[in-house]
Amino acid sequence: MKRIAVINQKGGVGKTTTTVNLGAAIARQGFRVLLLDMDPQANLTVHVDKRPDLESHTLTSLLVEDAPLQDLVQPTSIANLFVVPSDTSLAGVEQVLANRIGRETILREALDAFPGAKDFDFVLFDCPPSLGVLSANALVAADHVVIPMQAEYLSLQGMAKLLEVIQLVQKRLNPALQIACVLPCMVDARTNLSSEVLREIDTHFGPLLAKARIRNNVKLAEAPSFGRTIFEHAPDSNGARDYEAFGAEFLRMIGVVVPTATAAAAEPAPEQAAEGSA
Ligand SMILES: Nc1ncnc2c1ncn2[C@@H]1O[C@H](COP(=O)(O)OP(=O)(O)OP(=O)(O)O)[C@@H](O)[C@H]1O
Ligand SMILES: [Mg+2]
Repeated sequence: MKRIAVINQKGGVGKTTTTVNLGAAIARQGFRVLLLDMDPQANLTVHVDKRPDLESHTLTSLLVEDAPLQDLVQPTSIANLFVVPSDTSLAGVEQVLANRIGRETILREALDAFPGAKDFDFVLFDCPPSLGVLSANALVAADHVVIPMQAEYLSLQGMAKLLEVIQLVQKRLNPALQIACVLPCMVDARTNLSSEVLREIDTHFGPLLAKARIRNNVKLAEAPSFGRTIFEHAPDSNGARDYEAFGAEFLRMIGVVVPTATAAAAEPAPEQAAEGSA
C-alpha cells in the first residue's frame, strides 16, 4: 500500500480537490484507494458525500483513542474509493496530543497494524493548511509527498518552511519519505502572471515540477457541493481531463504499472502491480 501525503500549509491551494480527484483517477484505473481526511474542516469528507456531523467514527478516534483503522473505513459511491472521514473534533487533537510522547507516529503505527492494508493499493492523506501534529503524522506515515501549489503571486512563500519540515522528518522520523512532485493548480493559461509564476516554480523545483497542469475550471469548484468527484460531476470538463492526465503521470512518477483492462477487471486489488515495479 503506497502512502501519499497531499500537503501545503498554505490554505486554498487545491489540496482537497487534488486528493479527491487524484484518488478517483487512480481508482478508475482499477486500483483500490483509501482517502484519509486529516483536516478538521472536513472538506474531503463532504466532497465524497459524507456528512461530517453524522460520522461517529472519524480520524479523531484513531489519533486520540487508538481506534483501529479498519473500524473507520467507509465506502464511497465510487467503486474502489474508500474514505476515513473527519469532523470538527479533529481541531482539538493538536491540544489533546500536545504532551503525548510519540504523537507524530500514531498514524504510521495505525497503518502498520492495519489488517486491510493488503486490500488497498494507495492511501492518500488530505492535510490541513498548517504544519502541526496532524501534518506531522501524515509526513511520518507517508512514502511520497504531493505538493499542490496555486499558480499565483506569493505562492512560493512558505515553501522554504515546508521543505525544511519535510527534511527534518526525513532526517529524524521517516528516511524513506520522498517528494513525488509539485503540482500547479488553478492555472490560468491566459495570464502572464500564471506563466511567470510557473517559471519561478520551475526554477525552484526543476524535475520535481509535474508536467500536468490543473487549470482553473469552474466544474472543479462546483463538484464538492454535489458530493461528487470531477469524473462523475463533469466527465468531459477540463478538470476531469487534467486530473486524469495527472493521475497517469503520478503513477509513472512513482513507478506503478497500470494493469491492463482485463487484469483490472479480473483482479480488483492489484497489489503486486502496485508494489512490484516500484
Ligand atoms: N482547478 C481549480 N479550478 C477552480 N476552482 C478550484 C480548482 N481547484 C480547487 N478549486 C476550488 O478552490 C477552493 C480551494 O480548493 P481546495 O479546497 O482544494 O484547497 P485546499 O488547499 O484543500 O484548501 P484548505 O487549505 O482550506 O484545505 C475550493 O473551493 C475548490 O473547489
Ligand atoms: Mg483542504
